Amino acid sequence: MNHLVKFAAVVSFALLASTGAQAQDCPVSTTEPFDLTEADIDSIYACIGDRMVEGYTKGGDMVAKNYRNWTVSGTRHGVAGAHGNRLLLTYANDIAAEQYLKFAEEDVVMSVGARLAKESIKINKKKNAAVVGPLFLMTKLAAGASPETADWLYGGIQPNGKPMKFKQSFCHDCHMSWEEQDYLAYPLEDVRVSN
Ligand code: HEC
Repeated sequence: MNHLVKFAAVVSFALLASTGAQAQDCPVSTTEPFDLTEADIDSIYACIGDRMVEGYTKGGDMVAKNYRNWTVSGTRHGVAGAHGNRLLLTYANDIAAEQYLKFAEEDVVMSVGARLAKESIKINKKKNAAVVGPLFLMTKLAAGASPETADWLYGGIQPNGKPMKFKQSFCHDCHMSWEEQDYLAYPLEDVRVSN
């Protein structure tokens, strides 16, 4: 190792040590998700985007492999507050896309087989860095398949590719607020793709 490289290594280690970040982390300018600017979110996504899919696909899940080829419903990740203040971006499959992207507020009925996959990024305050959050899923089942969740199946894939474990009611109790929209909450208005 020549002196210059050694010096650079020492300096970067010192910088990492001072922020608590690891070399593989995606640094953030603020750990308060609501204070992130559009430019901050762009640079976080540039750093973490590929890593998200790498993680979600570790268990071989087909939705994890495919969702980025679906129709994206947002212009960038939004911070809605729900879903743990994470940065959220939702993709709709072919069956869901046309109806979902209308962001209609009344009498919404999604077709059987409609799927929404919402990737998420968490700001880790201790690490002062952005880390991959779960991939949240909703799938519309056949009529009558799950009356207690209005035939929606809630799912999730952890950043390590393993399925998340939770009660359906944990998700549905909150999504119930959007009954007129077939229980869909939609992205924040300022990040919705125009249609
Ligand atoms: C405290 C309320 C709350 C809980 C609990 C909740 N969600 Fe959501 N969910 C929202 C909101 C608000 C949005 C829209 C925000 C956004 O995507 O920017 C949303 C959006 C979604 C979407 C995108 C489709 C849509 O509704 O527009 C999916 C998929 C999703 N949630 C899955 C889940 C799953 C799976 C769980 C349980 C593990 C869950 N949600 C729990 C509030 C909640």
